[in-house]
Amino acid sequence: MKVLLIGSGGREHALAWKIAQSPLLTKLYAAPGNPGIAEEAELVTLDTDDHAAVVAFCKDKAIDFVVVGPEAPLVAGIADRLREAGIAVFGPSAAAAQLEGSKGFTKDVCARFNIPTGAYQRFNNAPKAKAYVREQGAPIVIKADGLAAGKGVTVAMTLDEALSAIDDCFEGAFGAAGAEVVVEAFLDGEEASFFCLSDGKSLLPLATAQDHKRVGDGDTGPNTGGMGAYSPAPVMTAEMVERTMKEIIEPTMRGMAEMGHPFQGVFFAGLMITEKGPELIEYNVRFGDPECQVLMMRLKSDLLPILYASATGTLDQVSAKWSDDPALTVVLASKGYPGAYDKATPIAALPLAGDGAKVFHAGTALQGGQLVATGGRVLNATARGATVGKAQAEAYRLVDAVEWANGFCRRDIGWRAISREKP
Ligand code: AMP
Ligand code: GLY
Repeated sequence: MKVLLIGSGGREHALAWKIAQSPLLTKLYAAPGNPGIAEEAELVTLDTDDHAAVVAFCKDKAIDFVVVGPEAPLVAGIADRLREAGIAVFGPSAAAAQLEGSKGFTKDVCARFNIPTGAYQRFNNAPKAKAYVREQGAPIVIKADGLAAGKGVTVAMTLDEALSAIDDCFEGAFGAAGAEVVVEAFLDGEEASFFCLSDGKSLLPLATAQDHKRVGDGDTGPNTGGMGAYSPAPVMTAEMVERTMKEIIEPTMRGMAEMGHPFQGVFFAGLMITEKGPELIEYNVRFGDPECQVLMMRLKSDLLPILYASATGTLDQVSAKWSDDPALTVVLASKGYPGAYDKATPIAALPLAGDGAKVFHAGTALQGGQLVATGGRVLNATARGATVGKAQAEAYRLVDAVEWANGFCRRDIGWRAISREKP
């Protein structure tokens, strides 16, 4: 099978690493890729926003299957263009990708199909939103409706914070994404991520994970795209997974099909485990970054036929086997992230991968043969271990072998799970 992978982050490096291990693979291309992905795939210069160009490339190279990593091309309809051209693609249609592209859309799906989530209202102007917030009181959550690169959500602990977040949205802090605002009840509990494949009519549950959104140790400082993750999430017991499937994922899959938008791809459910049980915070329509890195480190089965089954409506014919050992990843980021940071800072040395240990590349590039950091989140030191504590020790051993003066990371990734492991 000839495969094209779209994307350039740590998530895509993990996908490329796993796809490259498939006996079914004959050739892997990646666009735009990164230097880590280049070890697994041939990188191609392709404007992935130009969907006609992507289709033309696939025809030219006789690509059998396209795997789309990030959400933006999916929301923009790349999967629709590829399917129209008769090319199998992993990832939902633009209509189904609204589950991530519009928070209001998802909340309406929840309301219509009785899916547990925080009570909410949608607003297209500030005065009405503010009146509602005053009536509800704090804590309360303010969300820009559209894609805002993970920055459009304010969990407001005071009324003043909520009111100024509403102003930010309508004054254009998130561009067009903030033209509509969702105001949502604050959910109290422990967060977890759940990943489940869908082919539109059947489901294959994958695994659970926990992210670390805040930039600083002890979950302090501003939100980021994620500073580290581990899988599985202990809070997602077998009972919680079963309830999540029955109460959240299955009704979403059936509801989307009923609405005429069957969902093919991965449901990445952001959950809050409250006193009542699992409640949906949000959907993403692609793998998490860095959650994907720990999932791939635990997946024992061949990834390629599983993704292909999701794309071709044959998910009921495949299964996925997982290592019982947890995996943990630590994100190394450029100093200053999530604010401004220097670009093109040199990375002098990287540790070699071992069995169950690997440093995935995210925001890296090669400049005149020198590996440099180009992004905010740059490397993902990822390891598997008999316990989360052991996986953590191995991941930080990798971190400490990275020679990159401008990098930093959190030192407490996995703290929640590790505190549970202690007798
Ligand atoms: P998002 O960018 O949508 O992933 O949201 C960022 C973070 O905001 C989530 O990971 C949660 O920690 C938090 N959050 C979002 N919605 C709620 C809610 N209704 N109650 C409490 N926290 C929330
Ligand atoms: N790590 C969170 C995300 O990928 O959205």
